[in-house]
Amino acid sequence: MQIISSVEEMQSYVTRLRGKGQLIGLAPTMGALHEGHLSLIDMIREKSDVVIVSIFVNPTQFGPNEDYDRYPRQMEADLAACEARGADIVFMPDREDILPPDFSTYIEENEYSQGLCGISRPGHFRGVATIVAILFNVCRPDFAVFGQKDAQQAAVLQKMVKDLYFPVEILVAPIVREGDGLAKSSRNRYLEVGERTDAVRLSQALNIGKDIVAHGNLSVDRIKAEVTHHLSQSRRIRIIYVEIVDKDTMKPEREVRPGQSLLTLAVWLDQTRLIDNMIL
Ligand code: PAF
Repeated sequence: MQIISSVEEMQSYVTRLRGKGQLIGLAPTMGALHEGHLSLIDMIREKSDVVIVSIFVNPTQFGPNEDYDRYPRQMEADLAACEARGADIVFMPDREDILPPDFSTYIEENEYSQGLCGISRPGHFRGVATIVAILFNVCRPDFAVFGQKDAQQAAVLQKMVKDLYFPVEILVAPIVREGDGLAKSSRNRYLEVGERTDAVRLSQALNIGKDIVAHGNLSVDRIKAEVTHHLSQSRRIRIIYVEIVDKDTMKPEREVRPGQSLLTLAVWLDQTRLIDNMIL
């Protein structure tokens, strides 16, 4: 496994690979890798000759009062995990190379990014789209993979790729869950024991929504009410949103369309922001 931190070196490396006709797959991450990230490597591996994992904690996607400074960083363990999972290259650029002091160009998607996390995290998707566009330009992947856990991020990036004709195909990997249903997340390590117990309510709430649909009730209001009720049973949980949206456009649904509607939620569990979602 190669570790590359220089943008120039990465560019000349992929130019050589592309010259040889190799298909390149990219799994962009912010490190603190868990099984969810490693499943991205597996998915992209099936399509690509060369798998690049990028690790970059992107300051532009964190708000001023968010957890950029305390976001977990564990380079040694991440490199070992990438190697064990069969990544070919880990690209871990320096902040100054990606975002030099005179950096001044941003990418903004203005439809799918507007609701949900776009409301509570202003500027977040602008930061994500910008950094992913840079990674696409540097790594020139044929395929890039993102997790369904960040469903809105995946939708915004698909739209960016379509609107701006990026020559890359986006794959979306299913959510990986703990045994009790909690979606894997780098932020789960912030949770203390009691909080971890209550965190299971997120996936339970989604399953309640799914059950209601399975029983033939397609009412958005009914599902949102039941989900909200279940989450509210924990005094640690403050709901940021519970919504049912079209899974591709993130626009609110009037009635559930099984297979197409996404039940999605974000909460504060004490000081930790958690998100989860499920296709109904
Ligand atoms: O999903 C993430 O970890 C990040 O948002 C991404 C896509 C790597 C961009 O920084």
